[in-house]
Amino acid sequence: MNLVSGIDEPLVLGIETSCDETGVGIVRGTTLLADAVASSVDTHARFGGVVPEIASRAHLEAMVPTIQRALKDAGIAASDLDGIAVTAGPGLAGALLVGTTAAKAYAYALGKPLYGVNHLASHICVDQLEHGKLPEPTMALLVSGGHSSLLLAPDITSDVRPMGATIDDAAGEAFDKIARVLHLGFPGGPVIDRLAREGDPKAIHFPRGLTGSRDPAYDFSFSGLKTAVARWIEAKRNAGEEVPVRDVAASFQEAVVDVLTRKAVRACKDEGVDHLMIGGGVAANSRLRALAAERCEKAGIKVRVPRPGLCTDNGAMVAALGAEMVARGRAASDWDLSADSSLPVTEPHVPGHSHSHSHDHVHEISKDNLYS
Ligand code: KG4
Ligand code: ZN
Repeated sequence: MNLVSGIDEPLVLGIETSCDETGVGIVRGTTLLADAVASSVDTHARFGGVVPEIASRAHLEAMVPTIQRALKDAGIAASDLDGIAVTAGPGLAGALLVGTTAAKAYAYALGKPLYGVNHLASHICVDQLEHGKLPEPTMALLVSGGHSSLLLAPDITSDVRPMGATIDDAAGEAFDKIARVLHLGFPGGPVIDRLAREGDPKAIHFPRGLTGSRDPAYDFSFSGLKTAVARWIEAKRNAGEEVPVRDVAASFQEAVVDVLTRKAVRACKDEGVDHLMIGGGVAANSRLRALAAERCEKAGIKVRVPRPGLCTDNGAMVAALGAEMVARGRAASDWDLSADSSLPVTEPHVPGHSHSHSHDHVHEISKDNLYS
């Protein structure tokens, strides 16, 4: 590990605004000091999904109070910080813009280095706050409302390689859509998880996408499953029969987690990696956690899943990755850091053009490019 120009146990504040959660976390090295989250999820519920414009406005209102709450919870002053990290992407453009602008303003005013980081790499790195340093390489299964990917990370700050991803819907999106068909509200994951516990996962056999012998080994597809479940429900309704909601939830959930765990274990075996990290909102799913534990144990693979509160979007994950950047002496971002709604997963962080490792460099930058 390169600690030459880094700081041991850096104190970093992280800002996350890629979707509907305004998250501000503070960490010291791999220790969590504060995790303040303000969510606008209830405002979106009646629309059945996140409305970007509403999310952006909610971030704007929540930003400063959430930062203040995090500083208070951590019992530190902003001037104590070694750096400020922020999600630069991927995510909703307008929502990301609120976070990156706030991070720039705080970093500039405080004279602290700014680190624009990748949301997906943050979802992986957050596990350091729970289970200590990530082994290298780490295999990560990232499953959220926006993403479903298998990633091999030899170095979470600089080297993240996509193994596979969904070719259509994300896993969480499938949960949300099926919940909508069942009139269970939004977001769908937690309620399906709860109902499935009282249902029979073998009641209905729903298709397992991309599991044929000629299919790509690590890619996922959930849109066929979604359609199959929706048709099955519709047929029941058309026949005037009652829909067995618990059995549908359990059987649908089983189809999703069966494929996710099967492919993740296979990727670990193929790459000779003996650890599997699972992150993203869907990692909060109780059946996914149980099946992953069962299958990984059989394969001699250790599973690392953060507690549910750290799996869904939060600021602590951004702070965790930011702290790792500082510890390893990675280059800070320039003041012209821009939000990139489709930031590739292969870019864990967005360094500045100057690639300065010096903490003084923030003072050398002219005010001219602060607003570009
Ligand atoms: O990571 P996250 O908070 O936001 C995104 O970056 O998308 O993930 C939110 C997604 C939603 O689709 C939600 O339905 C799903 O995670 N989710 C779950 C559970 N808790 C949240 N899915 C399945 N089971 C859960 N317990
Ligand atoms: Zn996320």
